[in-house]
Amino acid sequence: MQTLKLKRPDDWHIHLRDDAYLSRTVHDAARYFGRVLVMPNLVPPVIDVSSAISYRERIQALSPPGFSPQMALYLTDTTDADTVVAAKQSGLVSAFKLYPAGATTNSAFGVNAIEKLYPIFEIMQEQDIVLSVHGEVTDADVDIFDREAVFIDTILSEIIRRFPSLRVVLEHITTSQAASFVQDSSDRVAATITAHHLLYNRNDMLVGGIRPVHYCLPILKRHIHQVALLEAATSGNASFFLGTDSAPHPRSAKENACGCAAGCYTAHAAIELYAEAFSSVGRLEYLEAFASEYGADFYGVPHNKDHIELTQQDWQVDASFTFGNTELIPTRGGEPIAWKVTSGERYPLRDGVH
Ligand code: DOR
Ligand code: ZN
Repeated sequence: MQTLKLKRPDDWHIHLRDDAYLSRTVHDAARYFGRVLVMPNLVPPVIDVSSAISYRERIQALSPPGFSPQMALYLTDTTDADTVVAAKQSGLVSAFKLYPAGATTNSAFGVNAIEKLYPIFEIMQEQDIVLSVHGEVTDADVDIFDREAVFIDTILSEIIRRFPSLRVVLEHITTSQAASFVQDSSDRVAATITAHHLLYNRNDMLVGGIRPVHYCLPILKRHIHQVALLEAATSGNASFFLGTDSAPHPRSAKENACGCAAGCYTAHAAIELYAEAFSSVGRLEYLEAFASEYGADFYGVPHNKDHIELTQQDWQVDASFTFGNTELIPTRGGEPIAWKVTSGERYPLRDGVH
């Protein structure tokens, strides 16, 4: 049986939600991750240091020792310089998240005219705080499958040209264009890659019937893009690192005839799913750097000192999880996963429905 020992990994992009949902999401995220970067798209969003501190306290109240939530603030049309400086000084905020208004779940408070935020990017550059980007345009006439590539050409390239020292993370990349763009940029520009974009493509979502469990934004693309992402993630290039974008929605919001909510829940088996993806291209030896080193290096924090161990061993994911007072269908629900964490877990995975 093959085993794999890794420094404890970090997740540099996760949605934990709030209130009754936190018990599930924190339990799963904290099972073996060291740090997680918590996305701020609550309703209302986390837009300043004081709301980030109280959100962090709600997370920590449910966290085991050693688990470290890092916070991101949500950029709006009215984010000001003082907020950026206060965020840096707090020592608790690792990034500002740019959501183009209307691009995705809970982005209604997002940014309408990105160029109006250039003075804020200037301050972020001075303060050396990370700009985390949802990279999709929202123009009605741009095809949903092209929205990431158009964003890179029309918006991101210009931000990077104007602010060459700004540290930028293009989140959850989905295309060969995004992978090439990051490869060709300076080491101030990085990307997270999700497990679901490495394991699936749009055929998995659309052929033989639409599968809401796979619907997320940016949307799954063609197989050739999946191949390019696998190549980037397993290339040993330090600009690509782990960010699950695990984003739970109640089953009723996803299996909904009036519109399926975007988001895939992978936090219950994140590193196991990445191990499958890396193993599928024979590059498991690159998983540790992708999962446990490059993200920490980019964010300027030390690697975790302890380890986890994975064993190649099938196990079955529960078909459905309890989620507050409702139900959540996880990625791979009711199906097997080929890798299992066999050491370094803080506690076992909670049963699905109880
Ligand atoms: O699929 C997604 N779900 N993409 C995002 O950008 C947001 C996320 C969510 O919060 O549900
Ligand atoms: Zn996200």
